[in-house]
Amino acid sequence: MPQVTLSVNGKSHTVDIEGRTLLVELLREKLRLTGTHVGCDTSQCGACVVHIDGESVKSCTTLAAMCEGASVTTIEGLAKADGTLHPMQEAFREYHALQCGFCTPGMVMSAVDLVQKHPEGLSELEIREGLEGNLCRCTGYHNIVKAIAAAAEVMHGKRETIAAAAQ
Ligand code: FES
Ligand code: FES
Repeated sequence: MPQVTLSVNGKSHTVDIEGRTLLVELLREKLRLTGTHVGCDTSQCGACVVHIDGESVKSCTTLAAMCEGASVTTIEGLAKADGTLHPMQEAFREYHALQCGFCTPGMVMSAVDLVQKHPEGLSELEIREGLEGNLCRCTGYHNIVKAIAAAAEVMHGKRETIAAAAQ
């Protein structure tokens, strides 16, 4: 059986795969990292977004075989080892940017990539456009946009904490 060797959240894994195995299947079924969700399976909803070498990708349409040597980060790998949340996770919590939470892992991973790519800052419109590939059935997006704007200020050193950004 073919194998793929990749790093997931800083840990190396060599995993048996089939040619058709998807990255999301490898993560959820082989490595039991079930924080990455599957909503549509057809690259529409963004629930399955993870980072490959720092770039957000939809893992439901990425073949595991293409990830040889890659460094993958999932929602489980975003917080620090001591449990300190990433500013984006903290902002989602502080701004009540989730309800059922189904979209949240993918939304957070997409948002981190979006903010990292815009150190100059993002307007509300740019945040909304940047999240076009992530669907949320619950929140109406308003608090998600506010959370991302707050996290962006912290990630780019314009505010010290999410709490400060919330004031
Ligand atoms: S499950 Fe991948 S985009 Fe919906
Ligand atoms: S919080 Fe329910 S789908 Fe987004």
